[in-house]
Amino acid sequence: MANTWSPDSWRKKPIIQVPEYNDAELLARVEGELAAFPPLVFAGEARKLKRQLANVCDGNAFLLQGGDCAESFAEHSADNIRDFFRVFLQMAVVLTYAAASPVVKVGRIAGQFAKPRSSDVEALDGVELPSYRGDIINAIEFDEASRVPNPKRQLQAYRQSAATLNLLRAFAQGGYANLEHVHQWTLGFLKDSPAVERYQELADRISEALEFMRACGIDPDTDAHLRTTDFFTSHEALLLGYEQALTRVDSTSGDWYATSGHMVWIGDRTRQPDSAHVEYCSGIENPLGLKCGPSLEPDGLMQLIEKLNPENEAGRLTLICRFGVDNVEKHLPALIQAVEREGHKVVWSCDPMHGNTVKASTGYKTRPFDRILGEVRQFMDVHRAEGTHAGGIHVEMTGKNVTECTGGVRSISDADLQDRYHTHCDPRLNADQALELAFLVAEGLKTERALRGNAKPVVAAE
Ligand code: PEP
Ligand code: CO
Repeated sequence: MANTWSPDSWRKKPIIQVPEYNDAELLARVEGELAAFPPLVFAGEARKLKRQLANVCDGNAFLLQGGDCAESFAEHSADNIRDFFRVFLQMAVVLTYAAASPVVKVGRIAGQFAKPRSSDVEALDGVELPSYRGDIINAIEFDEASRVPNPKRQLQAYRQSAATLNLLRAFAQGGYANLEHVHQWTLGFLKDSPAVERYQELADRISEALEFMRACGIDPDTDAHLRTTDFFTSHEALLLGYEQALTRVDSTSGDWYATSGHMVWIGDRTRQPDSAHVEYCSGIENPLGLKCGPSLEPDGLMQLIEKLNPENEAGRLTLICRFGVDNVEKHLPALIQAVEREGHKVVWSCDPMHGNTVKASTGYKTRPFDRILGEVRQFMDVHRAEGTHAGGIHVEMTGKNVTECTGGVRSISDADLQDRYHTHCDPRLNADQALELAFLVAEGLKTERALRGNAKPVVAAE
């Protein structure tokens, strides 16, 4: 960490993608209030996540990161959180069992409220208004008053994050994630999905393995690993005033931590090496993500890695690649080769969502599921060819039965998108698309392990 860093040193750097608040006094008051509020997460938890990510970095675990593109105030409900968590656990269990790999679980949740936008304005029927920038900044309704940035929304985002995190902690630690419930995580509306049939078969095998282990004297009552899980939170650190207010010194280490979430990432639009966003992230000790899009050249990446992980600490930095299905081959090998040449320790993760957004014939912003699967496949193929570990996926997903991405086992068409298109920003995978993706990744990981020749013994044969 450069010795000129402080939680507010980003304020002297060039910044983009942030709102212009017109009431500076109110903004300062809100930031002051937030600065006195309790931290949402604790430094020790962020360190634990970093240790788990170091395992991914070494090729011995897999990172599953996912959740809403943008959390919304209107859709804050216990049911939505539970449904997301269920599908997320199902994906994790598919990866853990089918690929025999420990899975590091990180939600895009409990803080994912601020959105970078490709345009500052949005036009509809000849009317032009400032773009929606996420519920922490303004409101999605298309009228002038809604689009004015309101600092008070930061307080609501904080409270919603606290409540969401509270429920997630209870689910992860209080028994919901107990492996004995592996059959119960399936959502009702998924009953007739082929992805779920495959899941139920896998769940049967897990139940059998648990019975065997119980007979050997190991069961969820006596072993916390089977009864609970570690679940971490993450979001894009975009609204830096909010982040600064929640940046605290850890009393045990004396280091600075973002306490708004366990892991934060820098978006593809705000990753200029001298930017405010890179400056802020360089000084906090949390695990960091860095979105890598097609415009990132190997030299630029090396510069960013020097700034964000100067100590070359495993688990500190996750490179989240989002090139688009047609661009993986063109960009990823050169980045991997540069990282390997310099000996940088990073986690490689694939975001197959943000490079594959297209406009459907019906006007909706969508992502064809075959392009999403295609990007993940290519990501894994390139890593296999380079001899590096395809360490994770980063997806936008929901536990709801939405129709936002076309394709998948239910063959959602352009015309179907209007049925349940609920996202506040980008199109998300629905529950069965998410499960299908998890099976594809598990297959790829199994192949990678077989090629490395270090497949660890699994509890029951596949
Ligand atoms: C996002 O993750 O929602 C996002 C905007 O991604 P990117 O910065 O990669 O475009
Ligand atoms: Co998005």
